Amino acid sequence: SKLVGLVGWRGMVGSVLMDRMSEEKDFDLIEPLFFSTSNAGGTAPAMARNETTLQDAFNIDALKRCDIVLTAQGGDYTNAVYPKLRAAGWNGHWIDAASALRMEQNAVIVLDPVNMPVIKNALAQGGKDWIGGNCTVSCMLMGVGALYKAGLVEWMSTQTYQAASGGGAQHMRELLTQYGTLNAEVKALLDDPKSAILEIDRRVIAKQRALTSAETANFGVPLGGSLIPWIDKDLGDGMSKEEWKGMAETNKILGMGEGFDSAAIPVDGFCVRVGAMRCHSQALTFKLKKNVPVADIEAMIAADNEWVKVVPNTREATIRDLTPVAVTGTMQIPVGRIRKLVMGPDYVGAFTVGDQLLWGAAEPLRRMLRILLD
Ligand code: HSE
Repeated sequence: SKLVGLVGWRGMVGSVLMDRMSEEKDFDLIEPLFFSTSNAGGTAPAMARNETTLQDAFNIDALKRCDIVLTAQGGDYTNAVYPKLRAAGWNGHWIDAASALRMEQNAVIVLDPVNMPVIKNALAQGGKDWIGGNCTVSCMLMGVGALYKAGLVEWMSTQTYQAASGGGAQHMRELLTQYGTLNAEVKALLDDPKSAILEIDRRVIAKQRALTSAETANFGVPLGGSLIPWIDKDLGDGMSKEEWKGMAETNKILGMGEGFDSAAIPVDGFCVRVGAMRCHSQALTFKLKKNVPVADIEAMIAADNEWVKVVPNTREATIRDLTPVAVTGTMQIPVGRIRKLVMGPDYVGAFTVGDQLLWGAAEPLRRMLRILLD
């Protein structure tokens, strides 16, 4: 069986990936070789079979042994190791969660339920670099990819509600610590049903504004009880990098031009961090190329893949099924709030939620591994 090097398997995305690979029995089909950036020579985890010693993740000769390298170690690692490995003549498949190589011409952003033809085409042409997409983009396309495949989308605007996990494990801890700090600040007043709500509110905002730099080390400002309308780098032209990725990656995934060229479908909007744990949500506005009945849109979306689920546009179904709490830890991608907007019959709104560690990160990578093993 193929020797598959695993890098970054202990981190948050890596741990979710290992869990999914175990659940789907991927380890039965490969010989795993576990790498470490900090503990080379240590003992590999239980999934190891013959290769039970952790390898040095910076050792090019050790990496060169692998038929496939699967990494969730992050972009700095990719930038440090990938060029050296290729320069050393390694011709294996590189599957990567990080964004470092995503927009390279030879790299395919993998999301096979959406872009299997793009993947197959690249494979036929000798493609070797398979990169996971931005979590928000991947979850969005798992939900509404059908409308793109049908050629119906003239443009799309996205307003995101992105979870703390997108920043990393420390960000999730920081959010919860802030919630606890704020609760503790007013606990006695909350316990007294006769206390004044405006007094509680005054103390909470005072505490939020007084959080120390240690208490906001990861997000930079308070997130608990607030929101942050900027994600990732400042590109200097008014757009955040996360917002830039929306259009660039959506089009690249679909094989419709390299991001912002004339063939690309316009995708733009605002990316916002909210106090959710690990599900990214998005409100979508579509300008369709023609007037399509809502029932037809729902049917197309529902039929697109086995994970998408249309949530009826009622209050009851929406608040039960279309939230981060409902979706976390599941493979389902619910799409709801589907309705015509008052701007006109070609304008359609929708809302979707996805676990950004599953379809947003780990799942497309393990599925690409399976495609290579077929
Ligand atoms: N950039 C995403 C976020 C995470 O910060 O939510 C991974 O794509």
